[in-house]
Amino acid sequence: MAAKIIDGVAVAAKVRAGYRARVEGLKARGVVPGLAVVMVGENPASQVYVGNKVKACREVGLHSEVHSFPADTPQEEVLQAIQALNADPAIHGIIVQLPLPPHYNMRRLLEAIDLSKDVDGFHLYNVGGLVIGETVFPPCTPYGVQVLLEHAGIPIEGQNVVVVGASNIVGKPMALMLLAKEATVAICHVKTRELAQFTILADILVVAAGRPKLITAPMVKRGAVVIDVGINRLPDGRLVGDVDFDAVKEKASWITPVPGGVGPMTVTMLLGNTIAAAERQLE
Ligand code: GUN
Repeated sequence: MAAKIIDGVAVAAKVRAGYRARVEGLKARGVVPGLAVVMVGENPASQVYVGNKVKACREVGLHSEVHSFPADTPQEEVLQAIQALNADPAIHGIIVQLPLPPHYNMRRLLEAIDLSKDVDGFHLYNVGGLVIGETVFPPCTPYGVQVLLEHAGIPIEGQNVVVVGASNIVGKPMALMLLAKEATVAICHVKTRELAQFTILADILVVAAGRPKLITAPMVKRGAVVIDVGINRLPDGRLVGDVDFDAVKEKASWITPVPGGVGPMTVTMLLGNTIAAAERQLE
């Protein structure tokens, strides 16, 4: 029997409807949650992502501003902009859009963000919180995956989870978040030998490796839940994930499509973290 599809567009719309009510609650108390995006250089993919973030803010009633700098801007100038946003009461969340041009010190910029406004959760302090199971701002993409699993009613405790991909933005925080929910977690990556020997054990397989068709049907246990975080543009222009969707859907119990699976959740969770930051300021 074919897998049930986890519809990220539908779940994102539901979550955003809940956010609208919280934004109204904040507005009634005189607060409009505000997100600032710091962008350096002209990465075309980043421009699309940032455009999506601004649009999503508008739809849910958040204030947003984009601070764009040419790629040759001195790092000190960008740091000063972050410090000004730290002090700005209209801004509750700040993100530095990645990747940065190579001559910037990414860690210095991320560590400049005020902890209470670090809505990407990339500051080392917040990374540490995640490690010890005391998350303040869960990183948006793995947070989105967790919410998709919850909405589908998929239990996590005691399940075998295999995460393929060990990035700081997706794979590592995903593994830590599911470990905190008491799953048994393995992290695989591009250097893993015999990848299939790990993936075949997964009750929940999360793939964020950036390689089209990395995961084929023989690598998946029958009845597994398969979450595809990959976004790859094929030479013919099609957008595909890391999973051979057509074959794997015949074996899995649940599967996320690309596009329309995890993608719509990432921006949604960024809104959620920004609203949470604004609410915490009122506590
Ligand atoms: N670039 C790709 N994904 C992300 C993300 O989640 N946050 C930021 N700031 N940049 C990204």
